Amino acid sequence: MTNIQDNADIGALIAARLSRRTVLGGVVASSVLAMTSGISLRDARAQVDAAVSSLTYEELPHGLDETFHVAPAHNAQVLIRWGDPIFPDAPAFDPLRQTAAAQERQFGFNNDFVAFMPLPPYSKKSDHGLLCVNHEFTNAVMMFPGLVSGMQAKFEGAAGVTAQAVLGNSVELSREQVEVEMAAHGHSVVEIKLHKGEWKVVTDSPFNRRFSMLSSPMRLSGPAAGHVRLKTSADPSGVNVIGTLNNCAGGVTPWGTVLTGEENFNFYFSGDPSTGSEADNHVRYGIKGEPRFQWARFHDRFNVEKEPNEPNRFGWVVEIDPYNSRSVPVKHTALGRFKHEGATVALSADGRAVVYSGDDERFQHVYRYVSTRSYDAANREANLSLLDDGILSAAKFEADGRLVWLPLVWGQGPLTPENGFETQADVLIETRRAAELLGATKMDRPEDIETNPANGRVYLVLTSNDKRQEGQIDAANPRANNKFGHILELVPPVAQGPSDKAAPDHAANEFRWDIFLLAGDPSDLNAGARYHPQTSRDGWLTTPDNIAFDSRGRMWIASDGANDNGFADGIWATDVEGPGRALTRHFLRTPRGAEMCGPCFTADDATLFVAVQHPGQEPGSTFDAPSTRWPDFDDTMPPRPAIVAITARGKTIGG
Ligand code: FEO
Ligand code: CA
Ligand code: CA
Repeated sequence: MTNIQDNADIGALIAARLSRRTVLGGVVASSVLAMTSGISLRDARAQVDAAVSSLTYEELPHGLDETFHVAPAHNAQVLIRWGDPIFPDAPAFDPLRQTAAAQERQFGFNNDFVAFMPLPPYSKKSDHGLLCVNHEFTNAVMMFPGLVSGMQAKFEGAAGVTAQAVLGNSVELSREQVEVEMAAHGHSVVEIKLHKGEWKVVTDSPFNRRFSMLSSPMRLSGPAAGHVRLKTSADPSGVNVIGTLNNCAGGVTPWGTVLTGEENFNFYFSGDPSTGSEADNHVRYGIKGEPRFQWARFHDRFNVEKEPNEPNRFGWVVEIDPYNSRSVPVKHTALGRFKHEGATVALSADGRAVVYSGDDERFQHVYRYVSTRSYDAANREANLSLLDDGILSAAKFEADGRLVWLPLVWGQGPLTPENGFETQADVLIETRRAAELLGATKMDRPEDIETNPANGRVYLVLTSNDKRQEGQIDAANPRANNKFGHILELVPPVAQGPSDKAAPDHAANEFRWDIFLLAGDPSDLNAGARYHPQTSRDGWLTTPDNIAFDSRGRMWIASDGANDNGFADGIWATDVEGPGRALTRHFLRTPRGAEMCGPCFTADDATLFVAVQHPGQEPGSTFDAPSTRWPDFDDTMPPRPAIVAITARGKTIGG
């Protein structure tokens, strides 16, 4: 057993050395000094002292194998998989003869964000609801027989990017295969019910829907809707788009809708982007004439030489109303165009809607939108347009611990015609360039950003940035060659709410910020990791991606990239306050090749839904010879991305 006292002392010294400043404010100061780059790590099997952490489950060891593991005293049920029918008329999944028409009636590929929307709406019901799930991207080599793993030659090495970089052009897909891919993207809404401890899919629910890239109409709204830069030959109005692309994470609004972030839309566009008026814009968003998908071979809208404005119709936050099965999803241009990881919603002290969103690419920015009008609990219809009119800002992290929000408002500062911004629509279509001109901080790949319901603070996950050089480090991105990622804590000031109750003011111009943890192996001093001193040898994590909070405000961290360190992606949980702050504990792990997405709790904390994305996706692994056949372990079935429902035998998850 580690000598905790010694470790704490060493930890304090190291924390002081690593800390960007020695004097910090209030609670934050003591917690940072309690962290350490630990020297000798506790064995995983040793129970953590309940007086230290509220999370007392037995930790899982780090490991990498073909299946899914969760901490003892929890059950894991595979709830729904790629190809499972979600309508009564949907054909059974036949992976050797998959068609686009079948795929549009079945659960999509590569599930990412998960929202549980209770039935009846706005209740706290935890045994009945709508599961709303993103289908981020497809990987042909794992979906179709006969393709070779040479197609994976374009692997780039870093976590989330690796996951995307699976398709070269060395093998031509058929039109049907391309359209299966298009149909397998998007989003699913599926009614589910808990019955005698088992979750069941209600296949004949009138709420069930599939949104795909083939056939689902969406509407652009807000200041850029209808702008000439959003018009195409198929849509001269600049308002109507078919489909949503590369939907990564998302959020839930207080008015009962789901937000979904369009992330790496650039990977789908072919053609030479270097000519025409959109050339600079396309290059800034990563459209380089090197697509990872072959959709342009059959659909001209993915060829920027033929349809130079089509990419401008992606990269938005999309709002889906799952409770209205006739609703048309809305792409909200007021929230800016970038590679949205997700979009999470809070209310300001005075009731305005606040949306946080990260732009998931190395050296990109963090954003916040604040609506002009306030949320009205009695008027849902009015709430449905709250995201059409407001102010988008980008974050500047100052070394003195201040976080300053820089408004992206046309006509202010550099956002003028001299710099190519003729209207607010230009600012929103080219959000990245606007934020850079304002001096927003270039971050280490902003992934999830979530508000903690218990303490009102906001947590920002930065997954990694192996391109950051020594000369480019700053207080908020303190490590060069950041292979492991980190989590920042953002602290809004407290203001008087409408009922004179003190509330975090998410609309304030200035927050405070600090480092919550620096991921990586704390026993490797070169890694520069920083956790609680009692973190075990299995409790450390790498490349955090999405986080969720249970109702007690404990943080559940999902990772994307641990395979590079020889162990499986999964979930680590920690307290955020008190003596267990930043004491991450290993809770579950995915099958090899997978990343962990979408942690989502029911209101009673009795079920945790997780999304296992791209199981078996690793070099050399194919549909025909996969490195795992999770979850079916049936020789006729490939590995299948799936949603798993974790329960705790009638108790709350994690103890
Ligand atoms: Fe789709 Fe940022 O992970
Ligand atoms: Ca990811
Ligand atoms: Ca993600």
